[in-house]
Amino acid sequence: MVVEEKEEKKEEKKEELGSTWTAGRRSFFAYAGWTLFLGATLAFVAKTFSFTGFFFPKVLFEPSKKFPVGYPADFQDHSVSTIKARRVFVVRDGNNFSAISMICQHLGCAVHWTVEKGVFECPCHGSKYYRDGINFAGPAPRPLSHFEMHVSDDGKLMVDTSIIVELETVLTI
Ligand code: FES
Repeated sequence: MVVEEKEEKKEEKKEELGSTWTAGRRSFFAYAGWTLFLGATLAFVAKTFSFTGFFFPKVLFEPSKKFPVGYPADFQDHSVSTIKARRVFVVRDGNNFSAISMICQHLGCAVHWTVEKGVFECPCHGSKYYRDGINFAGPAPRPLSHFEMHVSDDGKLMVDTSIIVELETVLTI
């Protein structure tokens, strides 16, 4: 009788141990599944918002299209001044100022001012423009662009290359 009870207890213990192992295996796979899921999620988030990208906006840092070119007195009367860094010419005639693009209207080369001839010339395919930017020779299909100008609060001439104006538009000060 005592032996039978002992055998029964042994069997019960075995069953308990078996169920414990089954429960442990299930939780192991559950943990593993969650770990994989979280790992994949973190990898996706890290790739999407890379460390530096998270702190800085994804923008191109281009120079502003609105910039000062100097005080009116900096420009001689009846002159064409080249602002190479900004790819514009500032043309002064008396109190009238205009800002003309350096970009050739044919294929985009930079034109230059030829003082002796008094014209803008393109070195690429020979387009030529009068002092007011109107094309008269070569393959350029239209005049050089003219940009909006105004005077800033501190008295400087400002050019805004985001605004193209009519050829005859001048800033009079
Ligand atoms: S790019 Fe100026 S003439 Fe062709």
